[in-house]
Amino acid sequence: MKFNSQILTACAIFGLTAAGPILKKRSGDADILNYALTLEHLEDTFYRQGLANFTESDFNDAGYDSHFYKNLMEVAYDEKTHVSFLTSALQAAGAAAVAECTYAFGVDSVETFIATASVLEGVGITAYLGAAAHIANPAYLTAAASILTVESRHNAYLRDALNKSPFPQAFDVPLDYDEVYSLAAPFIVSCPSSNPTFLTLKEFPGLTVSSQDAKIKTNTVLDVYANIPDDTTVYASFATVTGPVFAEIQCTGHGDYEVTVPAGVHGQSYLIFTSSNSTVNDDTTLAGPAIVEIKGTDGAPKYA
Ligand SMILES: *[C@@H]1O[C@H](CO)[C@@H](O)[C@H](O)[C@H]1NC(C)=O
Ligand SMILES: *[C@@H]1O[C@H](CO)[C@@H](O)[C@H](O)[C@H]1NC(C)=O
Repeated sequence: MKFNSQILTACAIFGLTAAGPILKKRSGDADILNYALTLEHLEDTFYRQGLANFTESDFNDAGYDSHFYKNLMEVAYDEKTHVSFLTSALQAAGAAAVAECTYAFGVDSVETFIATASVLEGVGITAYLGAAAHIANPAYLTAAASILTVESRHNAYLRDALNKSPFPQAFDVPLDYDEVYSLAAPFIVSCPSSNPTFLTLKEFPGLTVSSQDAKIKTNTVLDVYANIPDDTTVYASFATVTGPVFAEIQCTGHGDYEVTVPAGVHGQSYLIFTSSNSTVNDDTTLAGPAIVEIKGTDGAPKYA
């Protein structure tokens, strides 16, 4: 955790909020396909590496049976097929397709491999959901949706294997291009310089949540660090399909915050610090998203 000399004067509650124009990213279908392909390359490489790193008996030793291992190979096959499908679709449309990058996944065990797989599939879902509204060609929209449903099945399967609810909420979360890119960028080391530029993606400053996943539920107070300048008004929001759910936030020192998990947020959730208490977009985002796994109300089923 970083502190600076301003620690005693940190934690501004009221400050200047930039009220600039909201610039919407303009994207054509080829841009969106390349955006999807960027994520599919990441997933494809992830499974290829992981299944090269760990053998079936490594999975067995970690408590995952051969049936699970076989299913992971099926998942890897799906991601590889998504890559070749999107690449061909771009080429058929006369557009250059992005190639695979170099990644750093930081995976050192079967457990971290499966946990990261589950998180990546979850992020993939938010990306396809968020991009759906921008796809113009109905054939591409159907194709993207048919990938999305498969990613969500992967995600549910992996979550179940990790003893997390396979479908913790009635709706999944759409995130926008820059929000998704901010989650993916830490895994990307470098990309071929020959890759076409498609959207000018922006990585927001990071948010670090230092609490333990397994214990987080409604009303849990999260310790969050964000390197945000002092004298900035900061609101905390969780993304949902019906709009942001704002959370109580306290500043406890320079860059240190306590955020209380609000009701109505479950499963793989996305915390974003904003300068607005009503609108979350690229202009009002100060930091994040950070992924927070939330058990709901003490892990009670959502129908209760
Ligand atoms: C594979 O192993 C390398 C070397 O330990 C590691 O850096 C990388 O993150 C691993 N990747 C996966 C997906 O398991
Ligand atoms: C949002 O912020 C405005 C301006 O600071 C304030 O007047 C309003 O009460 C706030 N609304 C909520 C729901 O916190």
